[in-house]
Amino acid sequence: MTTVLASNAPLRPRPKPGILDIVAYVGGKSKIDGIAHPLKLSSNENILGCSPSAAAAFVETASQLNLYPDGRSNLLRAAVAQHFKLEPDRLIFGCGSDEIFTLLAQVYCEPGDNVVQGQYGFLAYRIAARGAGAAVRFAREPNLRVDVNAVLDEVDERTRIVYIANPANPTGTWLSGAEIQTLHDRLPPNVILVLDGAYAEFAEDDAYDDGIALARRSENVVVTRTFSKIHGLAALRVGWAYGPLAITEAMELIRAPFNVNLPAEASAVAALGDEDFVEQSLALIRQWRPWLSQQLGGLGLEVFPSQANFVLARFPDAPGRTAREAEAYLASKGILVRGLSNYGLSDSLRITIGLEAHNRAVVEALGPFMNQ
Ligand SMILES: Cc1ncc(COP(=O)(O)O)c(C=O)c1O
Repeated sequence: MTTVLASNAPLRPRPKPGILDIVAYVGGKSKIDGIAHPLKLSSNENILGCSPSAAAAFVETASQLNLYPDGRSNLLRAAVAQHFKLEPDRLIFGCGSDEIFTLLAQVYCEPGDNVVQGQYGFLAYRIAARGAGAAVRFAREPNLRVDVNAVLDEVDERTRIVYIANPANPTGTWLSGAEIQTLHDRLPPNVILVLDGAYAEFAEDDAYDDGIALARRSENVVVTRTFSKIHGLAALRVGWAYGPLAITEAMELIRAPFNVNLPAEASAVAALGDEDFVEQSLALIRQWRPWLSQQLGGLGLEVFPSQANFVLARFPDAPGRTAREAEAYLASKGILVRGLSNYGLSDSLRITIGLEAHNRAVVEALGPFMNQ
């Protein structure tokens, strides 16, 4: 092949435009120098572990590791369909719900398109969209809460997807079913509304709605869920989505053939059947979320209402008491929480609800820090 080079630029592989501008996802910290077993309250994991039946199912698959998993996750499909009373064909499974966000963006976005998310929306959405060449438009979130009008203001004729986490990470705030319905009513029908329910099980506010009923009757609503949070299977990476058949079928065309692995599928099926474990996990949050919020508020921090398994606390802008200093101080006591500067919230920390002793340890450490 003869090629004439236009310039003397070296010929080498180049990522497509926009890829190198993406800020990669960084998970919550898991290590502190010099502390062997820090208390990790930085990634909204389930502090109780996972269901014993899920762990047993995982171990049982050890004898089948030479086999490919079922490419359509049919056991899990049947279990989720039965549990949530959903049509099995309208489900799609992913390597975490993170993969679902990426599949949606890959299928529906091209350069020139955009997606809309809240100003403090989950970082994975913007990465998925930018990876597909789409721009990201951020809707302002007064009081750290998604504002339906602000979201709609960002939607234009090139908007393909609106991503809403409900409850939201990292803020913990939520929208009511009525607000979601208004958003959907006013959204053009060619825009997909993604309702990310990663923390849905922890939301008990009367006005909250997980959006499944809306997804059932709509042509453009996709609900996503995960086994990483209430089921405590974050390590196994299992998420799913329920949406219109036209959307799930299109996503299936580019889904990696065996994206949910065999131990993960078996464990997820068992986890779904363990209602006691789910109830214990929820009871822990029900008890300690208000306690932690109230205690942190009592220390003079601004704590935002949360319906998730974590709370967000805003620190003062006073030297010696900033969020950054609090994060370092807690780390010096062996406690890892999540600093939020990559969300534009460098004045705040996100703290996963722990066991009683953990929650008390956080408050006991922050007391002297705030009053020093
Ligand atoms: C709002 C939100 N959505 C989705 C996820 C990702 O879930 P998964 O582990 O299923 O990829 C998270 C994880 O922290 C999250 O906070």
